[in-house]
Order: sequence, then C-alpha cells, then structure tokens
Amino acid sequence: VARSLPSQWSKQYGPVMTVHLGPWCIVVLSGYKAVKEALVDQADEFTDRPPVPFFDRVQRGYGLAISNGERWRQLRRFTLSTLRDFGMGRKRMEQWTLEESRHLLESLRETKSTPFNPTFFLSHATANVICALVFGERFSYDDVNFLRLLQIMQAERRLESSPWGQLYNFFPKLMDHLPGPHHTVFNQLEELKAFITEKIHQHEETLNPDNPRDYIDCFLIRINQEKDLAESEFIYENMTATVLDLFMAGTDSTSSTIRYAFMLLIKHPDIQEHMQKEIESVLGQHRAPQMEDRKSLPYTDAVIHEVQRYMDFAPLSVPHYATKNISFRDYNIPKGTMIIPMLHSVLRDEDQWEDAWAFNPVNFLNQNGNFKKNPAFLPFSAGKRACVGESLARMELLLFLVSIVQHFHLSTPGGPSSLDIKPELSSFVKVPAQYQLVVTPR
Ligand code: HEM
Ligand SMILES: *[C@@H]1O[C@H](CO)[C@@H](O)[C@H](O)[C@H]1NC(C)=O
Ligand SMILES: *[C@@H]1O[C@H](CO)[C@@H](O)[C@H](O)[C@H]1NC(C)=O
Repeated sequence: VARSLPSQWSKQYGPVMTVHLGPWCIVVLSGYKAVKEALVDQADEFTDRPPVPFFDRVQRGYGLAISNGERWRQLRRFTLSTLRDFGMGRKRMEQWTLEESRHLLESLRETKSTPFNPTFFLSHATANVICALVFGERFSYDDVNFLRLLQIMQAERRLESSPWGQLYNFFPKLMDHLPGPHHTVFNQLEELKAFITEKIHQHEETLNPDNPRDYIDCFLIRINQEKDLAESEFIYENMTATVLDLFMAGTDSTSSTIRYAFMLLIKHPDIQEHMQKEIESVLGQHRAPQMEDRKSLPYTDAVIHEVQRYMDFAPLSVPHYATKNISFRDYNIPKGTMIIPMLHSVLRDEDQWEDAWAFNPVNFLNQNGNFKKNPAFLPFSAGKRACVGESLARMELLLFLVSIVQHFHLSTPGGPSSLDIKPELSSFVKVPAQYQLVVTPR
C-alpha cells in the first residue's frame, strides 16, 4: 500500500517537525501520542486558528470556524448546546434525519436499478439535515432555488482548493484587485447570504420565544436577551456567518463519507453482505433504524467507524495556530506558527491499529464480535476545537447507511474492480472519485 509522503517524513523526523512554506512556519504533529498530547492535554494552548485571508474574505472574520478568543468561545458554546437541545436528548434531529432518509430511499427507488451518480442526492440529503437544524425545513430534490445554493457551495469548495484560492491566501490585497474567478464566487456567496438573511427575517416574524423551532430561533432569542450587552457576540451578522459555517462544514463532509462508504461496500461484497444480514436480523425488512439500534448492530457500527478511519476525510485536520509561544515536549513553538495536527498519522498509527493500512472492520471488533472502541479514532479531531457536528454526522452516517443497506443491494456496472477507491486530496480534504452506482431493491 502506498504510504503518503508526510508519514514517511514523520518516520524520519519524529512526531514533531517543522516545515517552511511560503511565508509560513509550520509545525506538523504526527502519531496519536503527540496529537493527543497537544490537542487534549495542552488544549488551552492549541485551540486557536491562523488567519486565513480566503475565509476572512468569505466570512468577514465572523462565524465560528475561523474566529478565536471570546467570539469563538461564545459561538461554539451556543452552537454545541443548540445542537444538543435539538439532538440526542429531544430526538428532534433523529426524526428529521429519518424523514430525510425516507425521501432519499424514495429517490433511490425511482432509479429503477439503472446506474446513476449518487453525488447529487447525497449532498442534497445532508444539506437538508442542516436545513432542518437551522431553518426548520427541508427542500425538495427538485427545488430550483435550493439547487442554485448547492451549486454555489460547490463552486466555493472548488475555488478554495484551486490555485486561485491558494494565491488568495498568500496575496489577498493583490488578488482583490486582480480579475479572476474568485470575484464570481465571492459575488455568488452574497446570494447565499441573502438567502440566509431572508430566512432569518421570516423567522423573526413568526418567532415564539417559548418554543424555538430551530437554530435561527435560538439565535434570535439570544440576540434579544443580550440586546443591552455592549459586548454581545449574538448579532445578525455573526448569525449569518455561523449558519454558513454549518452548511460549509456539514454538507460535503458527511455526503462524501457516505459516497465513499458505498464504494467500499461494493469493493468488499462480503462485508456488505455481513452488514445486511446483521441489519435484517435486528430490524427486519421494514422497521426504520433508530439511534438506539446502534448497540445491537456491532458489526455495522464497526464498518461505519472503519469507513471513517480508512477514508481519512481531513488528513491534516483544519490548521491550528500558536497565538503565543507554546512550550511542547522539549520544543518552543514560537507565536505565529501554524500547527497541523496530522490526523492521517493518527488514523494510520501502526502502534494503535491492528490492521492500520487496510480496510478491515476488525479494527473495531473484539474476539466476540462486539464493538471495540479505540482512542485513536479521531476523524473529527480532538480537544476544544474538535468538530462541533460530530454527533450529528455520526447520526446521519448510521441512519442513512443502515436504511440504504437494509433496502438495497449496492453495485456498480463495471464490477468492484472498476472502482478506484483512492480518494483525491483536494486542499485540506479528501474527495472520493465519481462513479456510477446501481441500487437493486432487496
Ligand atoms: C463525516 C463528517 C465530518 C467530519 C469527518 C468532520 C471533521 C471535522 C474536523 C477534522 C474539523 C477540524 C477540527 C480541528 O480543528 O481540530 C471539523 C470542524 C468543524 N466541523 Fe466538522 N466534520 C464532519 C461533519 C460536520 C457536520 C455535520 C457539521 C455541522 C453541524 C460540522 C461542523 C463543523 C464546524 C462548525 C467546525 C469548526 C469548529 C471550530 O472551529 O470550533 N462538521 N470537522
Ligand atoms: C460580531 O460579534 C463581535 C464580537 O464582539 C462584535 O465585535 C462584532 O461587532 C459583531 N459583528 C458585527 C457585524 O457587529
Ligand atoms: C517567544 O519566543 C521567542 C523566541 O522563540 C522570544 O524571542 C520571545 O521573547 C518569546 N516571547 C515571550 C512573550 O515569551
């Protein structure tokens, strides 16, 4: 199996290494021990983000994913508790996700076993889960307005990982004055923000402070509570940016993971069959899955974990930053250093995994076939900056994947050997290849 370059370097240079790239001094942390020691044991020092001009331009410095200090702390705490209120406790998100799953199954059934590219349906389904959370509504798969917004998000993603996006990070002032595709995307993003702003206005008109329906309602209530507070982070502009964050971070990540899971299940028919048998024995052919079924589905749970481990969606995580001098092990990491916790090296750490380089659910199973946890399972990173959407993403992965495998056999016209399962690294995240899927009702 081909090993990637940075992990060869880390074998040569150890768990902490320094790289110089353009104007940046970068410290790369690798292996479970070093990453955990930094992000968890020294969490306070390793929590901040670097200035990224491209995102600053998109978000104007607001929002959750790129901010630091008090603004970040407040928005993060608020987002986590709102997710929790609509999430596991109240079962609201579970019901929304199940409803979306029914629409997805319906669309898959309509393909009538003919080949199609699953990318569109999956990103629409995961975007709708975020819509349910923030707007309290979903959009039909043929809603033209919503399709346009999905396209804008995709265009932003492409720009972000293109040379134009990278150039913007090195020369923001210059790029603002040069022509190029970035201006088109920046303008389109204004359209997306206008859509969000319109939704916010609609929410204001129908708000019932005693019965918040979604994220925007909760934000509006908070704005109102803090309206006399000079220092409040809860103001309109910050709300739009934070909502945009949830879309940007929550849509592609989850839908690409499901798209990749299908690929791996086609590539490993024995694993798909084992998973299907387990699901059928627990749920039968018709009952929809619930989160509570997870513990009765140890093999399926192991497969889903293994998909995330093997996929390695964000191999370099999202960059962190030293906002002051940090002393770490025997090193001094000076203020202004970008810090890359290399999740790739954690998810492939040979000291932590039984079969680090293969796709093998045994990495999450014990001898009795029960689910086995592993502390090095960090696809969502760790510590105070770890993914806020983790519980939502894990719910979507379980409910969508279980429903689909319960109802359909997955295959591809060229057979398993025609699939190239090597995801492409695009900027900071892995993008699985496009392929034709065939879903045959069971
Ligand atoms: C399989 C799906 C997902 C994966 C693999 C994933 C992974 C990650 C990773 C690696 C980070 C960076 C953590 C760090 O800096 O140390 C992150 C941050 C983030 N994720 Fe996710 N994520 C997923 C789904 C989601 C979903 C569904 C949402 C929305 C609810 C979401 C919202 C966010 C946000 C807002 C941040 C920034 C947090 C901050 O800066 O404080 N993610 N995610
Ligand atoms: C967003 O919150 C920050 C935090 O104090 C505040 O300084 C800023 O003014 C807010 N945004 C806007 C547009 O006012
Ligand atoms: C941070 O470290 C640098 C050397 O790497 C040193 O010159 C500077 O004085 C330190 N700053 C503080 C505030 O300790």
